[in-house]
Formats: sequence, C-alpha cells, structure tokens
Amino acid sequence: MALDSTILTAEELFAIRRDYRSATLLPKRAYQDPGIHDWERREILRRDWVPVGRADEAPEPGSYFLTEIDNDQLIVIRGRDNELRAFHNVCRHRGTAVAEEQCGRVVRLQCPYHAWIYDLDGSLVRAKHTDGLEDFSFETFSLVGVRCEVWQGFVFLNLDPDAEPLAVQLGDLVEHLERFDFASLRSAHRVDYDVSANWKFVAENYQECYHCPGLHPQLNKLTPYDLGSDFLTNGGWQGGYMELAGEAETMALQGGHRDGRPAMAGITPVDERRVYYYLVWPTMFVSVHPDYVLVHWLSPTRVDSTTIRCQWLFEPSTMAAPDFDPSDAIAFWDLTNRQDWHVCELQQRGTRSSTWVAGRYSTEEPSVHAFDLMVADRYAGEGFVSQRLVRTRYDQPPPKPNEANSTYGATGTNGTTGAGSRDSAARTSARSKASASKR
Ligand code: FES
Ligand SMILES: [Fe+2]
Repeated sequence: MALDSTILTAEELFAIRRDYRSATLLPKRAYQDPGIHDWERREILRRDWVPVGRADEAPEPGSYFLTEIDNDQLIVIRGRDNELRAFHNVCRHRGTAVAEEQCGRVVRLQCPYHAWIYDLDGSLVRAKHTDGLEDFSFETFSLVGVRCEVWQGFVFLNLDPDAEPLAVQLGDLVEHLERFDFASLRSAHRVDYDVSANWKFVAENYQECYHCPGLHPQLNKLTPYDLGSDFLTNGGWQGGYMELAGEAETMALQGGHRDGRPAMAGITPVDERRVYYYLVWPTMFVSVHPDYVLVHWLSPTRVDSTTIRCQWLFEPSTMAAPDFDPSDAIAFWDLTNRQDWHVCELQQRGTRSSTWVAGRYSTEEPSVHAFDLMVADRYAGEGFVSQRLVRTRYDQPPPKPNEANSTYGATGTNGTTGAGSRDSAARTSARSKASASKR
C-alpha cells in the first residue's frame, strides 16, 4: 500500500527533527485533526504490533479473551496445542459476533445465531445445510486469523499479514529486559480510565518528570525528578529509570514501603534502588518497580480520547502470601494516574485554541522529543531512523551535539550518546529501511 507521505509537510517534519534545543513539538493537528487520527489508525494501529493483553488471560486450552484494535473486535484464544491464536470475532456466515462474553472458556466456538461451529484453531467444523452449496468449503470459511505473538507474557496482535515479526519492532528491548521473567507475573488489580486526550499527549506525559514536583508531590518525594537516566534505544521503545530516594523501597503510598513484599525475580541490588519506565511502541507503558510491574495499555478511541487500562502485576509467590496487600501500590498509581489524566485533558482543551502553535521542549524533555521523533519517523514512513538524545543524568544538562560528537534528530545520523551507539544507530537505520520498504 502506498504511504500517504503528505500527512505532515516537509517543513513540519524538519521542525520536529531538529536538535531538541531548536525543535518544536508535533504540530497542533497531530493532536486535534481527525484526519491525522484516521491516518494513525490505518498506518500505525493496523500495521504495527499492538499490545492487547496478557497471555495468562487465556491460560488453558479453550480459554479466551476479547479485545479490540481500531474497532475490530478480536478473540485471543488458546488452542488444544497450547498455542495462543487470534481471530476476528466474526462468524463467516452472516457476521455475528461468535463469542459474546469478554472472557471465558469453551470447547469450541459456536455462533449464537445459526450455530456454525469453529474449532479452537479457527477452522469451521460444522455448518448445517451447506452441503449443496457451490464454491463453498469448510476450509475456506474459517474464522479470519490475526497474527499473534507473545513477549514476556504480553500479547501483541498485528492486523497486517505482511508485517515483520514482533522482534523487529521491539528491537533491543528484548535483550535489554531478558534478565526478567515478566511472563510469570500475575495480575493483582486492573482499572480502566476514559481520558479525553489524544493518546500521544498521554505518551508524552509518560516520558518526562518535569511536571512531577508540581503535579505529583507524592511521587517526587520517592523518586525526585532530577535523579535518573535514559537508555540508548534501538527499535520501537523508549526507556529510562528514576532513583528511589531515602527510605523509599518502591512506589506506594505512606512512604513507599514494600511492606514485606520481596523483590521480583531478576531484580539486582542496583535495580532495587530504581523504578524503570519503558514505552513500548505504540501504546504500552511498562513500569518496573522492585516488587511489581505496572502496565498501562492505551487504546486511541478518537483524536481527542483514549481508553487506558492500568494493571498491577506481581510475582505469584508474593500474591500467595497470607498478608499480601497491594492497596498501597494501587492507590499510589491511581492517584498519580488521575493527576496525569487531568493535565492531559487540560492540554487537549488548551491546544484546541486557534492561537496555539507547537511549543518547545525544556531541557528536562529530550525524552518527550525522542517519542515525538518516533512519531515523526512513522509519519514520514521511514521506520525508526532518527537518533534520539540520551540523557545520562537527569541532574545534568544534556550534552550539546558538538560535545557528544554527534547530531541528533536528523534522519539517518549516527549519534554517539552512549556505549555502542554507532552500532545501534547503524542497525536501526538498516532495519528501518527494511521496514520502510514495506510501508
Ligand atoms: S451468523 Fe453465525 S451461524 Fe449464522
Ligand atoms: Fe505524571
């Protein structure tokens, strides 16, 4: 499919792709124009790997859960061979939704209308009164499949049959997090929020803690906004960490204590003093605390609204303890979430103004710029090619391009802001070109 490369003008792309000291944010219409939202639905949600849930939501053969990508309802179901598969939840007869409940367990899938029956692998196995039909076979009337892959227990779906494998999109995030076994974690709690803001405002908000002293006094006490670092990334992710201060052991109300909750498997002594933040392109945030993982799943519903599911994952052994009580971690993040959603909604409201033009990044926001570069790269149809600036210490000014012997933000440049970055940048460019040719 030809790419609609006119979604932003060359001038708009150039303005974003400059060094962050001179760059501007994405233009107003990226957050307000339904036409750009439609483009993102078509070119991002329908082409990229989209995280939709956890593999343990369908733990045994026949168990399933429903999800949606861009208004297409999908069923994720585990087969008798233990494989997780995904299908459009649409009967091939007259289009009825085959599964009604949000989740459940079935022996086979039977359409509630005229009782066509599909096996767990999507194949049609029973359709009464179809014997004499011409050009009809059970083989060609299976449920329509969707590509499904699992990484660290996170289920990703892709509506594009020609997309590269998930590992290509994740890049070196796979290696970066391989010391952890998030697949074994289980959900202790889940909350859904409707936020009247564009999904990119929410993603940008997750990228910085410039707003923390004022908006999140509770959070800023546990992890001061100027203690932390960004990672050099290669692929569809952004990440960094913040340092736990003083007596704080995790992010939780009442002083950030773990209340006896042990560290998760794979957590090192260094990790025990940090909270890691990962944005997994396009719509998932994974926040790794010493004793739990917090996940945000974004579903862009309209140009100005986003549904956000927030989930708290713990080690099963931690949850099995008789005195397990995650309420301090849940309440902490529910409070923080609501603080964030509030300013994102105000931002959506403010940027509707006829007077608003794209603003500027502070020196605390190169990571917001980094996310916007990913968006700009996708708008340009070029994969993830822009070199993103890495802040090695949040309490020190980011290096200037000439100090770091590199340039930032320009397509195809080869930055050297961290160990191994020349190789990383070269790999990113090579892969991006490969994927760009598909787009
Ligand atoms: S619509 Fe499903 S069996 Fe008729
Ligand atoms: Fe925040």
